[in-house]
Order: sequence, then C-alpha cells, then structure tokens
Amino acid sequence: MSFANVRRLLQGVVLMSTLTGVATGAVATPRDLIIDTDPGADDVVALFLAMASPDELKIRAITTVAGNVRLDKTSRNARLAREWAGREDIPVYAGAGRPLVRTPIYAANVHGEEGLTGVPVHEPRQPLAEGNAVQYLIDTLDAAPPHSITLAMLGPQTNLALALIQKPEIVKGIKEVVVMGGAHFNGGNITPVAEFNLFADPHAAEVVLASGVKLTYLPLDVTHKIITSDARLKQLAAVGNQASGKVVDILNAYIQYDIDKYGMTGGPVHDATVIAYLLKPDLFSGRQIHMSVNSREGPTFGQTVADWYGVLEQPANVMWIENGDAQGFFDLLSARLARLK
Ligand code: RIB
Ligand code: CA
Repeated sequence: MSFANVRRLLQGVVLMSTLTGVATGAVATPRDLIIDTDPGADDVVALFLAMASPDELKIRAITTVAGNVRLDKTSRNARLAREWAGREDIPVYAGAGRPLVRTPIYAANVHGEEGLTGVPVHEPRQPLAEGNAVQYLIDTLDAAPPHSITLAMLGPQTNLALALIQKPEIVKGIKEVVVMGGAHFNGGNITPVAEFNLFADPHAAEVVLASGVKLTYLPLDVTHKIITSDARLKQLAAVGNQASGKVVDILNAYIQYDIDKYGMTGGPVHDATVIAYLLKPDLFSGRQIHMSVNSREGPTFGQTVADWYGVLEQPANVMWIENGDAQGFFDLLSARLARLK
C-alpha cells in the first residue's frame, strides 16, 4: 500500500473516531453546580476558576452566607466576582445571615472589613436574585433529577443545613457535596484544632453530615500544602488579563496573614481547591474515613474528628482529601484565568 493510501486510511480512522466520540456522547456533559460561599478573598478566586470553566461546570446559582464578613458584604462580593468574570448570567441568592445556634463570628481580620483584600470594591451592576438562598436550594434540589446537582460549600454550611432541616428529602436531588473545611493533620486556623468554616457553624456541618449525602472534605490538611510562591504569583500575573490581575492583587494581600501567623513561605487559596477538585480530581488524593464534628462548647468546639486510621471501626462517611499537586493547581488556575477577560 502506498504512503498516500496509508495516510488516507489513518485520516479516515481519525475522522471516524472523532465522529464516534461525538455520536456516543464521549464529550462530557457539564456538571450541574451550586456554589455556596462567603466571599472572601479565596472564595473569589474559586468563583473565577468555576466561572471560567463552563464546559465542565454548569453553575446554576451562587448562594451566599455570612462568614468571613456579614451577609450584605459576602453577597455584594459574590455579585462583584461574577461582574469581573463576565458571568452576570449566574444568579446570586443571599441566604443565612447568622449560624444555626452559636453567636456569629467573622474573619475581617483576614479578609478585610469589606471581605475582599487587595482590590477596591463597588456596588455591582446586577442585583441579587429575588428570594432567599435557602428556599432556592429547597425548590431547586426538590425539583432536580435524582442525584443530579453538586454543591460546592466554601463557607459555613448554614444554608444547606437549613434547607435539609426544612425538607430532608431534597437529598434525592444532590449528586455530592464538596466542602472546604475541617482540619486533622494540620491543626486548626481559628483555634488549635478547628478550621474557620466548621468553627463558624459546627451545628450546620453536623446536619449536613447526618443527611447521608455523598460528602468530600478538602481540609487544611490539603489546602496548606497548595500555597503560593513568588514564582506561582508571577505565573498568575503573566496571564496578563484583568481577571488574573485581580487574583494577584487579592492574593498578595490575602496571603500575608497566613505567612505572618504561621511562618509559611506562601499562602493557601483554600476555596479554589474545591473547584480544582471538581475540575481535575486526579490532582488530589485522600481516603474514605469516618468523621464527626464537635459542636459542644469548649476548647475543641468546631473540631473535625477525622478517623484517618479507622481505629473507631465506624462506617466511612466522608472522602477526606489529604494531599494535592500544588503546581498542578496553579497551572490549572492560570490556564483557566486566561479564558476570562
Ligand atoms: O479556613 C478557611 C476558610 O474560611 C475559607 O473558606 C475562607 O474563605 C474562610 O471562609
Ligand atoms: Ca470561604
């Protein structure tokens, strides 16, 4: 057979495999996603990463909660993030203004009084969507096809807990819940043993855990391994658009707190690891374990008790992510920011 005929044959094979791939739906369909968040510097980076990935993530809505700062500011910041990302098609619903039981706490000392470090804020063009986030979660999850919607939880889990308390059967609409929260090997960041999102509303985390949904936690154990460096910040800056410029400005200010407090060489981008996990799970590793949350007042309030070695011989109830490819994360973040304006 002549070379020309071999080439024609190979071209035909390539064409057929491409058509077959399309015909058999080998092109993945985007995941239906609701992002619940308390922006928050790292929340905004997570929102940018998600909004830059429409082929993989169909963001149904952003729901906001009080956490890093009060609800009016977390909601404003979520609207700002979608404006900056050119994704004003995504509705933002405001949710719970305070935790289920405990007295509210905030982290303005970390995220700034406006809840967003390093960049000026303004009143965004588009308003909030009508209605409360908790009712939106109830209505949407109740009407959803079975196990079709993923929830990314980037702040205290108050909204989802309130929805589950009011209508427990909404679990049928949930595919999985991926949480930034908790700490085991790393120790806490708001107390010696507790991470902020869990400490801010441990009762809500207990409700979500008890619901039996498929649950994945990205705790400080992994987020404190995926930290900035001068080279990584330069990598982000080299993307050279407005979105990457904002991310660099936000992170340059945000990471200083962790560098100063923990003597780290760089700062974590906690919440963005949740979105990276949804986009590229192979960047991460962990194991199915039994985990409980302590909501009793005292020195271990808000602690996640992660039974990594299974000593309690209790059934596993979470996928606990303990490691991640830091450079892979920053490569992904840089590549996706380049898709924004
Ligand atoms: O402990 C880190 C978490 O608390 C992140 O979600 C950050 O945004 C703060 O909410
Ligand atoms: Ca957050």
